Amino acid sequence: MTNPFREDLVSRSRPEPCTVVIFGATGDLTHRKLVPAIYNLAVDGELPPGVKILGFARREKSDEEFRKGLEELNRKVSRSGHDDTIWGKFVDNIHYHQSEFDETDGYKRLAERLDTIDRDRGGKGNRLFYIASAPEFFDVILEKLKEAGLNEAKDGCWARVIVEKPFGTDLKTAQHLNEVVNRTFHEKDTYRIDHYLGKETAQNIMVLRFANAIFEPLWNNRYISHVQVTCAENLGMEGGRGGYYDTAGALRDMVQNHLLQLLSLITMEPPTDLSADGVRDEKVKVIRSLRQWDTPEKVAENVVRAQYTKGFVDGKEVPGYREEDRVDPESMTEAYVAVRLMIDTWRWSGVPFYIRMGKQLPKKATEISVHFKAPPCVLFNALPGGVPGANVLVIRIQPDEGISLRMVSKIPGTSLRLEPVKMDFHYATSFGKGSPEAYERLLLDAMAGDATLFARRDEVEEAWKFIDHIEHAWHQSDTPPPMAEYVAGTWGPKEADELLQRDGNSWRRL
Ligand code: BG6
Repeated sequence: MTNPFREDLVSRSRPEPCTVVIFGATGDLTHRKLVPAIYNLAVDGELPPGVKILGFARREKSDEEFRKGLEELNRKVSRSGHDDTIWGKFVDNIHYHQSEFDETDGYKRLAERLDTIDRDRGGKGNRLFYIASAPEFFDVILEKLKEAGLNEAKDGCWARVIVEKPFGTDLKTAQHLNEVVNRTFHEKDTYRIDHYLGKETAQNIMVLRFANAIFEPLWNNRYISHVQVTCAENLGMEGGRGGYYDTAGALRDMVQNHLLQLLSLITMEPPTDLSADGVRDEKVKVIRSLRQWDTPEKVAENVVRAQYTKGFVDGKEVPGYREEDRVDPESMTEAYVAVRLMIDTWRWSGVPFYIRMGKQLPKKATEISVHFKAPPCVLFNALPGGVPGANVLVIRIQPDEGISLRMVSKIPGTSLRLEPVKMDFHYATSFGKGSPEAYERLLLDAMAGDATLFARRDEVEEAWKFIDHIEHAWHQSDTPPPMAEYVAGTWGPKEADELLQRDGNSWRRL
């Protein structure tokens, strides 16, 4: 039986048939995320008929070899499992194109190949270019697409580009990349992906806030004491990730993009409509209103960076960050960061926001907790022990997606004793099925021409402005704030606890 809550109540633009050209097609992202996402859309009947995939990469490979590698991974990671019959039909639409990223002729051949695919397989000529290569090739791929005329759509068709992260490594490089992107594709055809925005629970933040009348009146500095955003990971630098990570660090890898995006959804003003620009106009205002930590002293006061030392995670001994494969033994890159932020608007004036992200923590969990102020000190607060804790609204982004509200209740019995209780909503039990992967929703949106869940140029640049001050204090000042330490498998350094204690707060236990 269909669950009535799952019926589509809101009409959305319809995804259109197209060829998805993936640059960096032999990489992990293509194998683990992109192709399984398209496969699962096919399984769910969401994929428009006639979607084709053309992998573009440097290695020599036949269509057959490419398909085989994708199948192997799909069997391991596909959300809905792997069905040989469905895969058998799906795989027919996958092709491979070998070329260097800077080879003019390779793009000429790409254009011909795309035309042939359209002719032989009845394609309309829509093209979705997905740049998932290593970041140093982003520029050249865009330039070469333009040189081959592939950035221009044929009559009645579209040509769009999805750009993967990292979108620059600081403001200057992001601005440069934006210039290259805007020189080659129209902004309306540019999709800067941030996969956190495709997570079901992130999308639900706006619904929670604006489709329920009870929260918005309380959503301000009068009732909210502070907000915490936690992204914990129980992994280190497995699979050779250390090489990339050691040049990025937690702040650039997760905070500049994913976590500031979550923060903007939690704190933005209600948009005038749900159009891509309506929503993004409000999100960017939040990022623009962040108080800047623009001196080493302010950074030392409001930001904690740390590395893990060896310890145990999930019962297994793991090395310290500096002992990890491909990490510099003298590295000054943070694997953990906690930031205290202030948003200087009427709504949020005086409310601290704390964001923390760390590798090799005790478990994988991302959540946002909104901590309300304590009730005034009358009535129950006068009881011995007072009221046990204030109200907390927790939005679990992953895993065990859901929302819970912590309230205080009387313990049944003849005496007056109070205890916190939880009202809990779990997606899995309420809707009877798991959420789609973020990439599924985002790929479909790009095929439909809906950029709401993608970052706009100004959002990316404003976020870098904030991050750059911190990076400068860490790496370019004569008196850089220290690097703290925590034992792998624990909840981060004591300095991060002290960051909250100074405001009279403490991290929520997950
Ligand atoms: C990526 C980061 O963007 O997001 C990784 O580069 C991180 O370091 C990952 O592990 C987390 O994504 P998710 O969806 O597993 O929370």
